[in-house]
Amino acid sequence: MPQTPQTDAFILGSRPVRRLGYGAMQLAGPHVFGPPKDRAEAIAVLRHAVANGVNHIDTSDFYGPHVTNQIIREALHPYPADLVIVTKLGARRTPDTAWLPAITPQELKQGAEDNLRNLGLDMLEVVNFRAMFSRLGPAEGSIEAPLTALAELQRQGLIQHIGVSNVTPAQIAEARRICPIACVQNHYNLIHRADDALIDALARDSIAYVPYFPLGGFTPLQSQTLSTIAARLDATPMQTALAWLLHRAPNILPIPGTSSVAHLQENLAAADLVLPPDALATLDGLLIDT
Ligand SMILES: NC(=O)c1ccc[n+]([C@@H]2O[C@H](COP(=O)([O-])OP(=O)(O)OC[C@H]3O[C@@H](n4cnc5c(N)ncnc54)[C@H](OP(=O)(O)O)[C@@H]3O)[C@@H](O)[C@H]2O)c1
Repeated sequence: MPQTPQTDAFILGSRPVRRLGYGAMQLAGPHVFGPPKDRAEAIAVLRHAVANGVNHIDTSDFYGPHVTNQIIREALHPYPADLVIVTKLGARRTPDTAWLPAITPQELKQGAEDNLRNLGLDMLEVVNFRAMFSRLGPAEGSIEAPLTALAELQRQGLIQHIGVSNVTPAQIAEARRICPIACVQNHYNLIHRADDALIDALARDSIAYVPYFPLGGFTPLQSQTLSTIAARLDATPMQTALAWLLHRAPNILPIPGTSSVAHLQENLAAADLVLPPDALATLDGLLIDT
């Protein structure tokens, strides 16, 4: 009996979203800095996503900086009633395109206000605290102070729900002692599975897990096995990789990024891709870099 893809919804914060969302980072210029090459296409991507049922968009005011949020506002405001926009705080950009931590209470409040203004919102529905301890991925270190500052912004009504990103299980536990955590956003995909146990633990608590770089990010996924299975299913490797994520656990909400309407269409079709048990088993066993 083939397993059908999980096309159902999952609660993100307080509202259901379709499990396949959209990540807006690719809508900024090179190095996620400055304006995109083709602003009209960026706007078309966002409108096409929403017109085709996407109701979870991941963004940040440090994409551009500000550019991506301003494009989202231009393309979609006033926003559809069911759209959940998730943004991030905890970093800032410098003119040389670097990413630096921005975690003081003042920086976090300024960041929230910048997001509200650039997105044209009165309240940010979900804000991820993006930890910046290491350039290489999650690294231990207390996040108590910035989480406490975000919880204060929540009390003030600037933020509705708080999530965490680029974090370890210990940091998630620390965050959950300070405030409810709506979602965890970490690097995870078919060949990068350091969070396998974490995903299952979060699923037991009905907390959304949002894998960033679901298609491999700056180094798109490449695997002969993936390509062979995709061809057999009359699908593309990217569709097959997204379908695998949708099968992996019910709390996984992939946010593939693209700057192209054609790629977006291809990616959204992954929600309907059935992975037969043997294909699923082969993909489950495909571990290259974990
Ligand atoms: N919390 C964090 O620290 C963090 C870090 C990184 C990203 N994120 C979020 O996660 C989202 C997803 O990550 P991502 O966009 O960096 O990486 P991704 O979704 O893994 O892959 C995006 C790359 O794949 C290409 N692509 C997309 N669809 C394709 C298709 N059907 N065929 C061929 N190539 C395709 C895109 O190029 P084209 O533009 O040419 O399609 C782009 O180069 C981001 O948009 C962002 O919202 C969060």
